[in-house]
Amino acid sequence: MAEHVLVSIAWPYASAKIHVGNVTGSHLPGDIYARYHRLLGHRVLMVSGSDSHGTPITVRAEEEGKSPRELFERFHGSFLELFQRLGISYDLFTHTDTENHHRVSQEFFLALYENGYLYKEAQQQMYSVEQGRFLPDRYVEGTCPNCGYEGARGDQCDECNTLLDPEQLIEPRSVLDGSEPVLRETEHYFLDLPTLAREGLTQWLALNKEHWRPNVINFARNYVGEGLQGRPITRDLRWGIPVPLGGWEEKCIYVWFEAVIGYFSASVEWADNKGCPEAWMDWWYNPGAKTVYFIGKDNIPFHAVIWPAELMGVKRLYEKSSSQVFNLPYNVPANEFMNLEGRGMSGSRNWAVWMDEALDRYHPDALRYYLTAAMPETRDTNWLWDEFVQRNNKELVGTWGNLAHRALTFAFRRFDGQVPAPEELDELDQRLLEKSEAAFDSVGQQLAGCHFRAALGEVMDLAREANRYLDDKGPWFQIKEDREAAGTTIYVVLKAIDSLKVLFAPFLPFSSQRLHEILGYEGQLFGRQYTETFEEAGGRVHEALCYDPAPAVGEWQPSHLAPGQVLRQPEPLFETLDESVIEEERARLGMEEACHE
Ligand code: MF3
Ligand code: ZN
Repeated sequence: MAEHVLVSIAWPYASAKIHVGNVTGSHLPGDIYARYHRLLGHRVLMVSGSDSHGTPITVRAEEEGKSPRELFERFHGSFLELFQRLGISYDLFTHTDTENHHRVSQEFFLALYENGYLYKEAQQQMYSVEQGRFLPDRYVEGTCPNCGYEGARGDQCDECNTLLDPEQLIEPRSVLDGSEPVLRETEHYFLDLPTLAREGLTQWLALNKEHWRPNVINFARNYVGEGLQGRPITRDLRWGIPVPLGGWEEKCIYVWFEAVIGYFSASVEWADNKGCPEAWMDWWYNPGAKTVYFIGKDNIPFHAVIWPAELMGVKRLYEKSSSQVFNLPYNVPANEFMNLEGRGMSGSRNWAVWMDEALDRYHPDALRYYLTAAMPETRDTNWLWDEFVQRNNKELVGTWGNLAHRALTFAFRRFDGQVPAPEELDELDQRLLEKSEAAFDSVGQQLAGCHFRAALGEVMDLAREANRYLDDKGPWFQIKEDREAAGTTIYVVLKAIDSLKVLFAPFLPFSSQRLHEILGYEGQLFGRQYTETFEEAGGRVHEALCYDPAPAVGEWQPSHLAPGQVLRQPEPLFETLDESVIEEERARLGMEEACHE
């Protein structure tokens, strides 16, 4: 039976533009993983959306003098466009301000409440006397009590990733006016993490995590091992999801508590949109399904500890007749960060490669290629403009593009635009075909294990091998004496190219599709991405990115290209970039000035 795979990707805050570091951190690895499983014929559901609540949004909106909704809708719209251009193939990319997400989040809250995992407690909280309001989370900055970093935010320290409450900051200041807040009492609901840890979370983290990345599982185990404390999951804020309890209408559910619920609520929305409202159960209540969470390292505590705790505490929703409880994360392959030319990317300091601008200038597959080759899987990496140009020119154009173009133009001109019929295959021919077949297993294993760099490296090695084969055989010489021998070579290399097309497809979907057409096939390797506007009960309207898998014909299978297949006019798959690009782009970052300092 086809496996069910839920590809969950961190929900970007709709208050900042997306840069290449965000893409290589979560969206791209998730997309590669999803496309690979779709080619295998598995049932993939890939979800995410704009994170539209919380203080990241309200602080920014206040700075810009806009309403939070105005702000998040603008960014949400730009995300939909960006993911479509980059081929990040979400089955549903929605947002957290939908009626559906509000309802599901409130139901989660109430289920935890009824199951006894929430408790109420008075708390001293930061309050601005000047402004007459509480200052939760990002409204306060100060010095991190854990590492001493002076720019720590009230919700988390960017330096050491420790989760914080504003009251823990040393020398706190309000981000609104720099004034020093005072403590004032307020009441909140807390998630009872100590009880959840005792009742199963600690044990779950201890077992069967051999396939997890060491940094992720170690962080989670330490975090829980140090002794969890209850975490407040309500806030004195008006922008967000109202607390669904009488007398609490003035407060909101904490953004992190509900954003992670988005993985589930988006699955419910997707099923509703399909007209099969229970379809989500195949991923959430089916013990054979795999749920995989693609995130950056700063999100580890929420996905490896808090979200599993919520799922354990809720146990199940809606379908009370079954005893099946929610699936806990199968894997959380968190990435490290990608820096830019040696310095951490930062939107506020304008030190970033913005994804939409990069797409204005470069082919999406050229960007996807480099972002996979430099993916921060085990340590922080760097976006380096000269490396981007070199790898594009040497590997994408020089190795893979060149292989395909040489073979296809030769076949097109010298064999009447058809795949030639082979004669008997010699050892070299057979070896190349065997290697291309074997690659489906070995590359597949790397992909299933979320080793994307290694997987891509292996495919590129195979392309190198095929180039060497073509050089060794030299069909352009063979054809002068023995047309059949040249035909055999071209047949063999076209078959290898046809296999490489599939092996590259999860990484380079656009060029693999073009190659598919040039090789004379009809149809789409993958399904169709589109945006749709949905109207919800209550009249609220939202736009989402969707994916229709129906047209897809791609399969994770070695080529079965047949002699006589009619090719289409070849054209180069990739473009060589001029070296001047490096200086242009570095100048855009203001790097020359930095050099002359
Ligand atoms: N918006 C958060 C961030 O950008 C990520 C939220 S992931 C979710 O860091 F699972 F909570 F949605
Ligand atoms: Zn710190």
